Amino acid sequence: MVFCSCLLSLFFWLTVSPANADKWSIEVPTSVVGLSGTCVVIPCKFSYPAKGKTYTSFTGVWYTGNHGSTVYHTDTSKISEVFKGRTSLTGDLHQNTCSLKISSLRSSDTGPFMFRIEIGNLNKYTYMENKVSITVKESPEQPTVSVKDEVTSGNLVVATCTVLHSCPSDLPRVTWNHNGKPSNPSQPQNHGQWKLTSYNLTFTPSREDHDKKLSCSAEFREKTVTGFKRLEVKYPPYDVSVETKPSVKENDSVELTCSSKSNPPANSYQWFSLNATLLGERPTYKLERVSRHTEAISCTAINTLGRNSSSPQKINVLYPPEIKNESSCQFASFTVCVCIVDSNPPSEVKWFGPDSSRTLPSSSIKQNESLTIFTVQNWLGLPDTVQCFASNSLGNSSITLVAPQNGIIIYTAVAAAIVVVLVGVLVYALRRHCGNRATQQPVRKNEQNEMKTTPKNKEEKGSDEDAYTNCPEGRVYDNWRCDMRPLPSDCALEDDSVYANV
Ligand SMILES: *[C@@H]1O[C@H](CO)[C@@H](O)[C@H](O)[C@H]1NC(C)=O
Ligand SMILES: *[C@@H]1O[C@H](CO)[C@@H](O)[C@H](O)[C@H]1NC(C)=O
Ligand SMILES: *[C@@H]1O[C@H](CO)[C@@H](O)[C@H](O)[C@H]1NC(C)=O
Ligand SMILES: *[C@@H]1O[C@H](CO)[C@@H](O)[C@H](O)[C@H]1NC(C)=O
Ligand SMILES: *[C@@H]1O[C@H](CO)[C@@H](O)[C@H](O)[C@H]1NC(C)=O
Ligand SMILES: *[C@@H]1O[C@H](CO)[C@@H](O)[C@H](O)[C@H]1NC(C)=O
Ligand SMILES: *[C@@H]1O[C@H](CO)[C@@H](O)[C@H](O)[C@H]1NC(C)=O
Repeated sequence: MVFCSCLLSLFFWLTVSPANADKWSIEVPTSVVGLSGTCVVIPCKFSYPAKGKTYTSFTGVWYTGNHGSTVYHTDTSKISEVFKGRTSLTGDLHQNTCSLKISSLRSSDTGPFMFRIEIGNLNKYTYMENKVSITVKESPEQPTVSVKDEVTSGNLVVATCTVLHSCPSDLPRVTWNHNGKPSNPSQPQNHGQWKLTSYNLTFTPSREDHDKKLSCSAEFREKTVTGFKRLEVKYPPYDVSVETKPSVKENDSVELTCSSKSNPPANSYQWFSLNATLLGERPTYKLERVSRHTEAISCTAINTLGRNSSSPQKINVLYPPEIKNESSCQFASFTVCVCIVDSNPPSEVKWFGPDSSRTLPSSSIKQNESLTIFTVQNWLGLPDTVQCFASNSLGNSSITLVAPQNGIIIYTAVAAAIVVVLVGVLVYALRRHCGNRATQQPVRKNEQNEMKTTPKNKEEKGSDEDAYTNCPEGRVYDNWRCDMRPLPSDCALEDDSVYANV
């Protein structure tokens, strides 16, 4: 019974719908909203007392209620100047549609508007009871951005931008502030007095997007409006690192903390040694007695989305210098002493002879972070014993090394000195015997020429050279140089030293 009456009332409602009603009636909203500069459509359906007859001649007219100016007329020449070229009907009068479209909406286009129909062979009628006014908005509404409240980095998401407008034929241009695949606009839907069109963006959020605004901008003819939503992005840990003191003394204890960035925060941790043994599962890990040999440790941070590990972290263990027992003196071409020092921070090393107030000049080569080789050398030999004294901020250490004595070098040095004295004597003698020619050339120069000129060339040069052949000077130098050959280093340098000694 109830069902029946329902059906009946539905049927009744359908029959009174204007297109079929046998009386003058119209279906229009009392007001619509339009955006200045774009268009607006007044939806309209009218009916008339057709009483079963068919009519073919229709003239539709829209007026403004107050001044009575013609907004639209089937005969377009009758349209008032202010509306000329801006108005049209979007439907067909034969099908009872009288919807009016006004383009390039002006703020003065507020109405009220009313419709009049003139039907050939029937009558003319103005639907004065049903006036429509237009609310002209100067600015568009902000678009609405919607997206899931929580998204996960790396997973595709669809965001929707919803735009209100009044003109489906002139949709705004919508742009997003995020990379992704934008969709075409949806079919405009009615939303109160506005139309509503939505635009999708399919994109992959990253952890960098967390707490950032996802915004869409709708560009209308005259204005651009932007709406946004803040993104809540969940992501697994990254930037995982072991945090600890910059340095720790050997045999002290130290606490390591596993630091990471993630959303939500890490809820569990794991600590691993280099050989992948699990050491602990707390956010911190305590090493009781660190040593210089303590190996690097890494940590893993875990949250609901995944896990990530730090690189292995070596602890900077400080210890005083330890002089390696491989430190020693050796005799090669020189007497060389090396002091191999293991320390952190690196040590400063001083070398002393028996006279501990004077340091010997030395050089050093860094092997790695903790090991440095310090060297002292002298071709003339070193004192019988040398002391290597190493110190850093944690302490000091020293070793006394026995330096092998280089008798040959001392002997050779003495011999060289004697030869130089002899040469001096000979040059003096030559000056007296060979006259001016020989004395015009300084002794030092002769020696250098000699080095560059082979003996053969010398003989080919004739009388000028005879003076030299007569002079034993060149030969003496040659012989002297030959004597010195066994000496390891550069002859010129030795000559310099010898001269310096003279
Ligand atoms: C936008 O995305 C929603 C949800 O994924 C979907 O239902 C709708 O059809 C899409 N609209 C357009 C215009 O692609
Ligand atoms: C793990 O951490 C590294 C370094 O911070 C990062 O580049 C990487 O993206 C992270 N992995 C995952 C799955 O988040
Ligand atoms: C791994 O290293 C730890 C300390 O670094 C050590 O105690 C353990 O014996 C090692 N395990 C294996 C299997 O090598
Ligand atoms: C640490 O302890 C070890 C063993 O007791 C010892 O040999 C070493 O010298 C100590 N290191 C320091 C810096 O005191
Ligand atoms: C240096 O010491 C190590 C032990 O610390 C020992 O095995 C080695 O024989 C020593 N070397 C020398 C040259 O004394
Ligand atoms: C430095 O080098 C020595 C030998 O070359 C090595 O035994 C030592 O482990 C190295 N130390 C570091 C910190 O690399
Ligand atoms: C070397 O260390 C000792 C303690 O180990 C200290 O008494 C001494 O003053 C230090 N010497 C120097 C020169 O720093």
